[in-house]
Amino acid sequence: MSGFFITFEGGEGAGKTTILTAIKDKLIEAGYDVLTTREPGGIEIAEKIRAIILDPSHTKMDARTEALLYAAARRQHLVEKVIPALAEGKIILCDRFIDSSLAYQGYARGLGVDEVYQINQFAIEGKMPDLTLYFDINPKEGLRRIIANKEREQNRLDLENIQFHDQVHDAYQQLLTKFPDRIQRVDAKLSIPEVKNIVYQHITRFLKEQ
Ligand code: TMP
Repeated sequence: MSGFFITFEGGEGAGKTTILTAIKDKLIEAGYDVLTTREPGGIEIAEKIRAIILDPSHTKMDARTEALLYAAARRQHLVEKVIPALAEGKIILCDRFIDSSLAYQGYARGLGVDEVYQINQFAIEGKMPDLTLYFDINPKEGLRRIIANKEREQNRLDLENIQFHDQVHDAYQQLLTKFPDRIQRVDAKLSIPEVKNIVYQHITRFLKEQ
């Protein structure tokens, strides 16, 4: 029995982490076996890599170093947590995966989407998500939400200027066209209960089709 690998993607302040937690509870109530996790991180080694990547004092970090560190964290998380859970038949809800690297490093940092896809193939050996929910929010609105939410950690990428976040937003629009069967767009401007319902419907429809 093999489980399903579902990823949540989007720019800063799109609300994907809040929705992910809510959806987990709803799926468990409905009787599904669910595991939630995040990237970069989700296991000890990858959380340590996360701390290095996102440390606001690491202003000298080169863009390729950044891309390689995300790919390294991804590799370890995949083999140590995601693949074993899939083998147990679980539904994995993962906060970010390869599309974040394509959008942030490939497009916004200018490394090239194809190049970043290639280095990630070395890390993931073809293991792409079964379904991806993309939380679409205007970058200005997303950053406004982050500033309003004082609980959330401020990281090195939040400190980038609005042009960077606009580029990330453009990149995700391109990824929607590149992977139309895998990625579903969700309007993240709607209220939390509305977004939660839409995401739940996408996931349960997908699971019933399998
Ligand atoms: P988070 O804010 O969703 O926890 O993600 C941490 C930051 O890392 C966020 O600014 C997006 C960024 N990121 C990348 O740039 N590339 C990646 O591959 C991943 C997974 C995250």
